[in-house]
Amino acid sequence: MSADEVDLKKRRFLTAATSVVGAVGAVYAAVPFVASMNPSAKAKAAGAPVEADISKLEPGQIMRVKWRGKPVWVVRRTEQNLKDLSSLNGTLADPASDQPQQPQYCKNEGRSIKPEFLIAVGICTHLGCSPTFRPEVAPADLGPDWKGGFFCPCHGSRFDLAGRVYAGVPAPTNLVIPPHHFVSGTKVMIGLDGGA
Ligand code: FES
Repeated sequence: MSADEVDLKKRRFLTAATSVVGAVGAVYAAVPFVASMNPSAKAKAAGAPVEADISKLEPGQIMRVKWRGKPVWVVRRTEQNLKDLSSLNGTLADPASDQPQQPQYCKNEGRSIKPEFLIAVGICTHLGCSPTFRPEVAPADLGPDWKGGFFCPCHGSRFDLAGRVYAGVPAPTNLVIPPHHFVSGTKVMIGLDGGA
């Protein structure tokens, strides 16, 4: 192969490589929409409400949504779960939700708008770990009185299926219930009150 031929091949390779880079560059150029927003628009997007589709959520299941960078749980409680809530009142630190950890419209036993659906910020009120969903009744590690709820693996705080904290655990308050409202039978808007 002559030196000229080699040079030609090299040049062809370079041309091909350059056009690939060009194509990739074009793809990326379309992406940084969020990065190009001005700071107040960015702040607004970060705090914006999020809509969750709960149509596939079966009784006894949980789904997780991100709102303001935090995990938010949507739990569809069973009939039995709802019955069990009142049986726990004597073991809880704030059964009537007197602490302002929820919007006024969720200051009820289930801490919810619709009894079936619990919507709570999934962050432990002790030091901020994310508790584990433990819906089973009386598992060996949580004891015979456990009726389902959330267990924080960091320091052992316990919450019932309304996010109410048990007495005598490190977490001082119930889990936070974010503002929310139902847009339809299958959609819930998290981060915005119904009247807002
Ligand atoms: S962070 Fe949950 S018990 Fe400490």
